[in-house]
Formats: sequence, C-alpha cells, structure tokens
Amino acid sequence: MSRPVYILGAGALGSLLGALLSSCTRVQLQARSAHARAIRRQGGLRLSATRPGVYPLEVDDQPRPPAPGAVVLVTVKAFDLEEALRELAPWLDPSHLVVVLQNGLGIRHLAARVLGRPVIRAVTFMAAAYEAPGHVAFNAMGKTYLPANGEVLDLWRQSGMPAEQVDDIETYIWRKLAINAVINPLSALLGVCNGELLQLRPVARGLVEEVVQVARQEGQILDVEETLAKVEASMQQTSRNTSSMLQDVQAGRQTEIEWISGAVVRLAAAHGLQAPRNQMLRELVRFTAEAAS
Ligand code: PAF
Repeated sequence: MSRPVYILGAGALGSLLGALLSSCTRVQLQARSAHARAIRRQGGLRLSATRPGVYPLEVDDQPRPPAPGAVVLVTVKAFDLEEALRELAPWLDPSHLVVVLQNGLGIRHLAARVLGRPVIRAVTFMAAAYEAPGHVAFNAMGKTYLPANGEVLDLWRQSGMPAEQVDDIETYIWRKLAINAVINPLSALLGVCNGELLQLRPVARGLVEEVVQVARQEGQILDVEETLAKVEASMQQTSRNTSSMLQDVQAGRQTEIEWISGAVVRLAAAHGLQAPRNQMLRELVRFTAEAAS
C-alpha cells in the first residue's frame, strides 16, 4: 500500500501533482477557500490541455495535519517556504517524508534548518498554469528528478509521471536554475509563453554564461553549450506554458526573482565576480512586479 500524500501549496504545480497522484493513493490538498470550494463543487480538480478531465481529490481549506506516514510535498513558492514550514513543523513526526520542489537555490538547506530534519530535494519539469479556482492547465509532462528514495519515485511512476532517481541532484538543481534564470524573468518581462523565447538565443546564451561561471565557483561543472541546449529544450517542451513568474506578475504577487536571478548575482559577488545580465533582469522584474501589484 502506497503512503498517503499531503500537499502544502495548492498553486498550479501542487494542484496538478495532487490530481495525478490521487489515481494511486490518498491525497490531502491544502487549498485556499475559493479553490477548495470549486474543487468540491466539481467533484475534483479540472485539468485542461494534457490529460484533460476532472480528477477527484480530498481538499482542505482549514489547516489539517498530514496523515501518519504521509509523503509531505511542499509546493509553496520559494518566498513562502520558511513560513509554511514553520506552520507545518509541529505536525511532523518521524513517519513523514518531506519533499521540497521549489525553483531556486538554497531550498534544501532552508527546509532542513527550519524543520531540524533532513528533507528530500526534488527537481521537477512539470509545467502548469493556474487558470481559475478549481482549474489548472497542465501544459507539459516534464520529468521529476529525485535523490535516493524509492517510495517517492514509485508514487510518481504509479501515477504515470516520468521520474528518475539521480545521485547528483545538485547538478539538476543548477540546470533548473539556468532554465529558470532565462525563462522566468524574460517571460515575465515580455508577457510571452515560454516557446516564444526560442527567438532570443543570444540573450539566453549571455544569461547561461553567467550561471555557468557561478556554478563552477560552487563546484558544479556545467558546460555553456549543453546548458543552453537544455534551456532551449525546456522552452520547446513547455512552449505553451505561462511561466510561474509571469503568472505571479499577472496576479500582482511577489515573484521568485530573488531565489533565481538574485541568487546568481549574490553568489557571483561572493566569488568576486559580476553577473550584469542577471542583475539587470532582477532589477527589471522587481520594478515590473511592484508596478503590477
Ligand atoms: O517556473 C516555471 O514556470 C517552471 O519551472 C518552468 C520549467 C520554467 C516551466 O514554465
């Protein structure tokens, strides 16, 4: 019998994972009231685009503890992570497995510090956009990379999601950082879907060069051409998705810019380097997000 799953963070990604995982185990999705009400009214979460349909799942709009032995998937945005984990901490016991899936750097370290226990840091390329309460557009079935944990890997695979166990999760964290450092700020500033950015190769290359340079200082040997190819493959694969940063700007919310471009700039400075292109996008996104809020 699979472990139950508890999802903290019912945005586009958390809701999507809840819908798909509910086919193979009990899922408790913690959602805001309008989203929770719509899910109950429809008899589940509505997915459009890939695998359209209504997916039954259990939703709570009042904070509730995870079931004993649950896999706790934390899918809140990076800027909400610390507070969400502080609220979660009193409910956890050694039977729970905590998995963090945010964009950006420093996530595992932050989670382990706040919870005082190890967590599983996963990297996912699933792409989704929140359309309306009770409705998520499932825009790309991307792979999820997990460090050694067979149970979480099995849950993913049983629910039909591609997943791979990897020894070097740090490499995937850095690759995803490069992808997010190109796609997220550019899409948020230009107001375009990810696929449109394929036309901006020289801009993407400049940003990737800076990420690769910082990664090397941190002991991650990435290659510019290979990383750029991965960024472009991600643009292609998620071409119809509205990036999470564009969704945040459009909704007048805070963005993850400090966890992505901001992290590249801060680490560059710590190593006596500069990352002027990432710095420029960081400032422009901050300005755009403030103007939109
Ligand atoms: O943050 C996002 O939007 C996603 O990480 C990705 C992979 C760029 C797809 O839109």
